[in-house]
Amino acid sequence: MGNFLAGKVVAVTGAGRGIGRAVALAAAAEGAKVVVNDYGVSVDGASPASEIASAVVKEIEAAGGEAVAVADDISTMAGGQRVVDVALSSYGRIDGVVCVAGILRERMLFNMSEEEWDPVIATHLKGTFTVFRAASAVMRKQRAGVLIGFTSGNHQGSVSQANYSAAKGGIISLVRSAALGLNKYGVTANAVAPVARTRMSANVPMELAEMGEPEDVAALVVYLLSERAREVTGQVYTVAGAKIAVWAQPRELRAAYAEGGSWTPEKIAEFLPGSVGVDPMPMLVRLEEMERAAREGSRPNA
Ligand SMILES: NC(=O)c1ccc[n+]([C@@H]2O[C@H](COP(=O)([O-])OP(=O)(O)OC[C@H]3O[C@@H](n4cnc5c(N)ncnc54)[C@H](O)[C@@H]3O)[C@@H](O)[C@H]2O)c1
Repeated sequence: MGNFLAGKVVAVTGAGRGIGRAVALAAAAEGAKVVVNDYGVSVDGASPASEIASAVVKEIEAAGGEAVAVADDISTMAGGQRVVDVALSSYGRIDGVVCVAGILRERMLFNMSEEEWDPVIATHLKGTFTVFRAASAVMRKQRAGVLIGFTSGNHQGSVSQANYSAAKGGIISLVRSAALGLNKYGVTANAVAPVARTRMSANVPMELAEMGEPEDVAALVVYLLSERAREVTGQVYTVAGAKIAVWAQPRELRAAYAEGGSWTPEKIAEFLPGSVGVDPMPMLVRLEEMERAAREGSRPNA
């Protein structure tokens, strides 16, 4: 065991499988006491099973670590609160929360039902809020703590997962808001966009250029949870195997001001294309390349 997180108490949602499990195991191996939360559902969020979380607790204990299971649904306020309450009742504090839990319900936008939209937003976006909300109230008083959300490269947009993409974009804004709102209390907030081989990524609709393992993602999360990352906040990191990348902060690219102080549609139509213009969507460009390759029967370099 290392000691990167010695003495810390960390809660991880979605820790029964895939990336969350690797994060829970790595945090425990680095000395943290871990709350292992998992509702134990299928990729689409159905059929909960409580043994998924307790199996990871057993793995941590077998390796000489300390952990406790919470099989609640973090898309409810009560579930998010319980994750934090169990950390406090079991170990007396909460130093970090990592919101990894997620599901997929893939469908083209024009066919998507409310039953496909709502649970995806509830699990990812609300499920990050419920845990951040409960943890930040404690961390504010402690004047220390780390909040970590899980986003995806798909926050840029997705052909067939508009629900997932919207939730992942929302998580980035939630993380940045937490970074701003809790900065004066010494609490950091960051987002991780992973690429790793799990049951969920087996469903990713396009071939991925870079694929890694859950353990690669866990190493970055352990670093972000540690004292070594005290100054890092409001960031979005991609981790894909050997690669770590930081995403740009959103900012205005170009601006123009109307002569005389106000615009009309006609003035905009004349002025905007050659001045403010557009910022081409990288994924749209890529989509066009892929469609061309499909027509020509060749595959683009993914
Ligand atoms: N694997 C990738 O390449 C990839 C890429 C981009 C983003 N992500 C994100 O990383 C996270 C982890 O993905 P993964 O690939 O490990 O998926 P996974 O399906 O292997 O694990 C997700 C876990 O979350 C749990 N879960 C689902 N709903 C829950 C709820 N309401 N309450 C508590 N637990 C719940 C599931 O039971 C499951 O064990 C997700 O947020 C996912 O969107 C993964």
